[in-house]
Amino acid sequence: MQKEKIPFLDLKEQYQQVKDEILPLIEKVFESNAFTNGFTVKGFENNFAEYCESDYSVAVNNGTSALHLAVEALGIGQGDEIIIPANTFIATAWAAAYVKATPVFVDCDPDTWQIDATKIEEKITDKTKAIIGVHLYGQPFDIDAVKAIADKHNIFLIEDAAQAHGAKYKGKRVGQFGEMGCFSFYPGKNLGTYGEGGGITTNNEKYKDYLHKLRNHGCAERYYHDIVGYNMRMGGVEGAVLDVKLKYLDGWNARRQEIAKRYKTEVKNPKIMMQKCPEGYESVFHLFVITTKDRTALEKHLNDLNIWPGKHYPVPCHLQKAFSDLNYEEGDFPHSEYLAAHCLTLPMFAELKDEAVQRVIDALNSY
Ligand SMILES: Cc1ncc(COP(=O)(O)O)c(C=O)c1O
Repeated sequence: MQKEKIPFLDLKEQYQQVKDEILPLIEKVFESNAFTNGFTVKGFENNFAEYCESDYSVAVNNGTSALHLAVEALGIGQGDEIIIPANTFIATAWAAAYVKATPVFVDCDPDTWQIDATKIEEKITDKTKAIIGVHLYGQPFDIDAVKAIADKHNIFLIEDAAQAHGAKYKGKRVGQFGEMGCFSFYPGKNLGTYGEGGGITTNNEKYKDYLHKLRNHGCAERYYHDIVGYNMRMGGVEGAVLDVKLKYLDGWNARRQEIAKRYKTEVKNPKIMMQKCPEGYESVFHLFVITTKDRTALEKHLNDLNIWPGKHYPVPCHLQKAFSDLNYEEGDFPHSEYLAAHCLTLPMFAELKDEAVQRVIDALNSY
């Protein structure tokens, strides 16, 4: 008989854990008409800033907007260049495209799969205004090395922490090292809302004030539009969900770390490679990605056992059609391309049962 399906992500059980707290709070949002930027959003902003050890957090409508507004708040625009890892979710690169700047891609390190800091300086020109480092899969990138380059060349560092809520670099939470840290609260993230959401952390009051205007039609005072702004506010329902869930985040991350530890120690198949995590970096394992030479064969083996991995991400940014005008070619970033062609994402979420983890481990060992 076919065993129960194991997907790489399932959010149903988590909802059962939190619904008794979330639903009454949502009712309060409706009853008080705090539909947008209301008390739940403000409460969440304060709690999330504290959680991230940052002075401020600004809630927005999704992580893509967080990146967009961070870049715009730094005054980056047409003709400027932004250094971005080739192996990230495309939204990191949209941030450059939206302000008419050029994304300049850099390959990843073959072991950590994070932006290769030794390859950044050769890409810096007098047009380079910022580096967006990505804490990919929940693991911090080499912040000291990347920040040292940004400081040396007097350019900004933005952290794309969309996958890394609560991850630590040398004991400190990510999101506080760059000018701004950008988070996504997409439902599947370690801290995910029911709908869409994003946030920006910063220690700079000036950026915080400017972000408040940018997300709300350019206003500090209603109907007085100081700058061209957007409607990128967070809804009250999303704020309510996030403020409740934030209390559970460390516990959920700890469970992800426990599962990751089992994958790392109990999978003994030499055909399977895992992301290397340097000493002092604490991943929150948003995604547990592996590589193997013959991905199709491993995927089939897992599917036959009713285990359904994902692929993050099958095409690196520089080879996406949307950026074909930048004239990158296959072979430009061999490590990112290898990862794209050979990655599989194992089941990883806090509610994954021990028996399911065991089945995944056994399946990988029997491949
Ligand atoms: C690395 C990275 N950056 C940015 C984003 C964009 O976030 P959102 O989907 O909330 O717009 C995501 C998530 O999808 C992401 O994984």
